[in-house]
Amino acid sequence: MLTADITIYELEYWLRETDSEKLKELWTAADETRKKHVGDEVHLRGLIEISNHCARTCAYCGIRAPNSEVIRYRMSKEEIMECVAEAVKLGYGTVVMQSGEDYGVKQEWLSDIIRAIKQETELAVTLSMGERPREDIAAWREAGADRYLIRFETSDPLLYDRIHPGGANSKWRNRFEILNLLRSLGYETGGGVMIGIPGQSYAMLARDIDMFRKLDLDMIGVGPYIAHPETPLGSGEIASDIDPRDQVPGTEELTCKVVALTRIVRPDSNIPSTTALATVSKETGRINGLMRGANVVMPNLTPEKYRILYDVYPEKACLNETSDACKGCLQNQIDAIGRDIGSGQGGRKR
Ligand code: 5AD
Ligand code: FES
Repeated sequence: MLTADITIYELEYWLRETDSEKLKELWTAADETRKKHVGDEVHLRGLIEISNHCARTCAYCGIRAPNSEVIRYRMSKEEIMECVAEAVKLGYGTVVMQSGEDYGVKQEWLSDIIRAIKQETELAVTLSMGERPREDIAAWREAGADRYLIRFETSDPLLYDRIHPGGANSKWRNRFEILNLLRSLGYETGGGVMIGIPGQSYAMLARDIDMFRKLDLDMIGVGPYIAHPETPLGSGEIASDIDPRDQVPGTEELTCKVVALTRIVRPDSNIPSTTALATVSKETGRINGLMRGANVVMPNLTPEKYRILYDVYPEKACLNETSDACKGCLQNQIDAIGRDIGSGQGGRKR
């Protein structure tokens, strides 16, 4: 049954389904659920990648601390405020400030920027700054931040530990503790996972979707894992340890299945059609995500000279497009599927 109480076994069954006729049922159910609960508006969130410094060693991520090939940058307040002005000009309702876990981004410095954005604009402010200490996350909420994104990457503790080397401060449960903290501070809270991590099985992915349901997240972002050659996971140094028949692929279709099932288990959440999905399928990824459950897109506002340095995974979609071009392109795609660009902040409607 394609309803919010779908069992874990049925979730796994759908994740393994390959018959395209049968899958149409899933796509239709997800699209109808999306329409009924969050409507036809596609909310645009302008992404500003404020720093690519990172203290962490995640085995999949191109900007991990040990990758000495990366030229590191940190944007100035003035540069960030120019991107914010661009978001306003393009009619976006939200800016998302994201960075590596960068302790050079000082609590007070970011609080000041958050206050400036909230004073000067009507924008919602979303942060994605990693596993920062409680005091930082609380201070930023105090300064006016509305939302915080932190993916838990996988609900499987053993897989999590394999892809997060680095001892006590990189344990699986930390991410869940932060999700609880965020909610207790009054943030709209976002989590998510990658799809196709070496060692990730269909059963694990079904449990990820069940975890979205249990956590009652406001925002759920999922995207395919994309191998980055300068990382232990991307180079094959860490490899899949499961039966190849159980290994999930990081494809457009599987990502769409996860988007669709996520919409079904959490009907009123905000779900992006992610850049990683658009990257693995440059022609149809973005639009298929939107037609199979998603209602959000996060176009990039980072200045071009920094954008290429925010190299989390290779060959990112839209890397060389100006923010104007992306807005126009998205406008066309959203028109073509009979949807509307969202107005206002587009927070979670319960
Ligand atoms: N492929 C796809 N997604 C990735 N992320 C990090 N590295 C990769 C990769 N190689 C995702 C993680 C992280 C988010 C900011 O980017 O899920 O939480
Ligand atoms: Fe960026 Fe199409 S969405 S160019």
